[in-house]
Amino acid sequence: MAHKPGYFGEYGGAYVPETLVAPLADVAAAFERCQQDASFQAELVDLLKNFAGRPTALTYAARLSEQYHQKIYLKREDLLHGGAHKTNNTIGQGLLAKYMGKTRLIAETGAGQHGVATSMIGALLGLPVTVYMGAIDVARQALNVERMKLFGATVVPVTSGSQTLKDAINDAMRDWLHDSEHTFYVFGTAAGPHPYPSMVRYFQEVIGREARAQMLEYAGQLPDAIYACVGGGSNAIGFFSAFLADVKVKIYGAEASGHGVETDYHAATLNKGTPGIFHGMHSYFLQNADGQITETHSISAGLDYPGIGPEHVYLKETGRINYEPISDVEAVHAFEYLARMEGILPALESAHAVALALKVMKTSAPDSVHLINISGRGDKDLNTYLDYKK
Ligand SMILES: Cc1ncc(COP(=O)(O)O)c(C=O)c1O
Repeated sequence: MAHKPGYFGEYGGAYVPETLVAPLADVAAAFERCQQDASFQAELVDLLKNFAGRPTALTYAARLSEQYHQKIYLKREDLLHGGAHKTNNTIGQGLLAKYMGKTRLIAETGAGQHGVATSMIGALLGLPVTVYMGAIDVARQALNVERMKLFGATVVPVTSGSQTLKDAINDAMRDWLHDSEHTFYVFGTAAGPHPYPSMVRYFQEVIGREARAQMLEYAGQLPDAIYACVGGGSNAIGFFSAFLADVKVKIYGAEASGHGVETDYHAATLNKGTPGIFHGMHSYFLQNADGQITETHSISAGLDYPGIGPEHVYLKETGRINYEPISDVEAVHAFEYLARMEGILPALESAHAVALALKVMKTSAPDSVHLINISGRGDKDLNTYLDYKK
């Protein structure tokens, strides 16, 4: 279906204060130009390969496959420089900032991965970086805070609201309002006002492109089912994009349901959210009857967000993608299980995708082929994991 520019069905758009309309239009125009610009594309490909280490591997999970009588492949974004898929996007947006002549980068971060990825690119391109991060996330992702500082970034703890990602986005937007002339806002997920949902998807599509070609080369076929975790939705949409037209491939997104109490799925926006407008977009949000955004909980900071990128809402409503809730308990089990069985420690976010795959596989036909996106590595989550086990 052809969409109105900036929309996915009725979702998306750019609902921002007047002062951000022109800066967003400038970013959208620059993004359009860069897609056709040979030198931008050459620089992007070069950095993805020689700085970030693309292509990332496709790993056959032999022991898991044997145990489940299925064929399970893992797309290894945990091997990307920085430890998560976020680097694909920050290289793209960092280069765009440079092409637009901007002299400063700002970003919000939840798990800290996007903050680290932006700080790395700031250091690489010689641009100063300020990262907004909820005070709770600063505490639970202390290692990533130190990494950002080592790359020369300034980390601003945000103490308003729930002190997590949603509040960090509010403060980053406020910063951009004050100085959009020199500052580029590197947004971390496929959400927010247009053009960010489309732009972040574009820079993450490399995951799906590679994974689809690798499946055809190494497995000799497309997968029967694919899985990714969904926070704001960037690793999922980038990975899923290459398979959307393959109607035989079933697509599953794993949302965080926190404590997993069904009346109160804590960050499972697509299962428990309702339409609304927040953070510049028309999408689904976890909100009360008065439209107040509710506080979320997930063991994984990167999934702890009460909204969702608008394209995912469209893909849910059209029925192309199944979005299922996964609890903290299920995610922690998958985290331990993948480590023990395959020698791969996934991020707690990615462990949600693994947990969903393990659930679906129980009822799949023998020898079905499954492909899971491992969006990041779990080293950053060790403190959280140890606290959880206490
Ligand atoms: C490793 C990892 N996976 C997934 C996510 C969720 O973000 P998104 O839904 O944009 O991929 C994050 C966010 O910080 C992350 O660090």
